[in-house]
Order: sequence, then structure tokens, then C-alpha cells
Amino acid sequence: MKINVHYSNHHFDELYFTGKSSVVIDVLRATTVIVTALQNGAREIIPVNTVDFAMKVSGNAFGGQTILGGERNTKKVEGFNLGNSPLEYTPANVAGKSIILYTTNGSKSIVKAKFSENLFVCSFNNLPAIANHLVKLDKDLEIICAGNNAGFNLEDAVCAGKLIGEMKELSADIEVGDSGRASLVLDKTFGKNLLKLLKESEHGKLLIENGFAADLKYCAQFGTVDLIPYYVSGTIKKLETGNVHKEISNDPKAS
Ligand code: MLT
Repeated sequence: MKINVHYSNHHFDELYFTGKSSVVIDVLRATTVIVTALQNGAREIIPVNTVDFAMKVSGNAFGGQTILGGERNTKKVEGFNLGNSPLEYTPANVAGKSIILYTTNGSKSIVKAKFSENLFVCSFNNLPAIANHLVKLDKDLEIICAGNNAGFNLEDAVCAGKLIGEMKELSADIEVGDSGRASLVLDKTFGKNLLKLLKESEHGKLLIENGFAADLKYCAQFGTVDLIPYYVSGTIKKLETGNVHKEISNDPKAS
């Protein structure tokens, strides 16, 4: 299995992902929000890449139980029901709901990878579950770090390195290129204390400045959620265990 890491979603077009297996990381905070919302009973998340489209999609109501979530400059978009703090995605707010999610980098990265054959969502919260599933899937992998406005961000790169490290613990058959090797080194350097990593990151400092310090503690939690968010036909749902085995048992090498 060959793993490629991309530090932003800006340097390729969406057709690049056709037929590939991909995983998107946006630790602060979009992928942590998605994992939390699904864990708390949301029916699905619909990632979009513009606020206008979010408003348009919400008009088509997914069975009436549709809410708008997300941020612009870290703060709730005017007219949305929720912002992009995972602490807002409580069972009371999201259970049974379809959530249309717009964020500056994370939701756009997911939409960019929409032609992937398999597309998953990873945060520190659900990293072990994702690592385990990807090793069982045993397909070459594209890791997409959402980054910050087309630029590199440290927390997503460390999460990518930690994901590769976890996968290498589970399988000897993993080959990484330069970006993967760099991510492994970044995890070894900065990944021992995830809260410190987030507090000292550029985006983490901005979130603290904007009153979201509590989000960093939440986003730094490692392996607290055993859940695999899976993108199919425009929406992200929780991959049910049955599907996992069914999907993997199609693999001739599956035991
Ligand atoms: C992003 O998409 O870059 C983040 O989710 C932004 C944020 O939540 O602050």
C-alpha cells in the first residue's frame, strides 16, 4: 500500500481522485465536528464549498430535518443554525438531523476529493478507527490535509503522520513518499502532546483569540470515538460495521 500526503487541497483538480481511496484531515475543526456530529446521532453531513450553495441545498430540505452548520473566519455564518465548534454538535442539536456544513478549508477539501472511490474523514478523535479500517481496506491511499487557505498547517500534517504511524503498526506493507516521511517526523517531533501542538499552532492561537480555547482540548482527544465517517453520493454517513465487513470482504485478500 502506497500512501501520499497532500498538505493542502489547492494543487490538484478533483479528477485526480477518480478511483482513489482518500482520507481528509482538518483537525481544527471540520473533521472533528463531523466525527462528533455522527457520534451524537446526526443522520448525515453534506459538505459544501460555498455559503450560497449551503443556503440553496438547505432549501431542498432533506426530509425537513436539515440544519446549517459551519464557519467563516472561525465564527458562525450569519443565518446558520450552528457554528464550527464541536461542542455545539450535541445530541440535542444534531440527533436525526442532516447537517449542511460549510467551512473555510475542511468542507472544501472533502468536496474536492468527491470522485474518490472511497473517501473517509479523520480527526485525532477517531484516528485509530480510521487506521484500522484503512489497513483492512488495503488500497493505495491519498491523505488530504485541509491546511489553512492553501497553506500548510502543522496540526493536520502531524495528524497525517500519526495516522501513517498507526497504520505501520498494523501492517508491514506500507510505503510512503517524501511527504509521508516528513509527516512521520513531524508527528515524532510535535505529536507527543496534542493539546500543546494545537495551542501553539497558528490556527489554534486564532481560535483561542476568538474565544474557542475549549475546542482545542476537545480536538486534541485521541482515539475517543470508534467511528468511520464515509462519503458517498454527496453525503457523509457513519459506516455501519456490517458495511465495513461487506466492503472489505469483497477484497479477495480479505481473511
Ligand atoms: C477549516 O475549515 O479550516 C476549519 O474548520 C476552520 C475552523 O473551524 O476554524
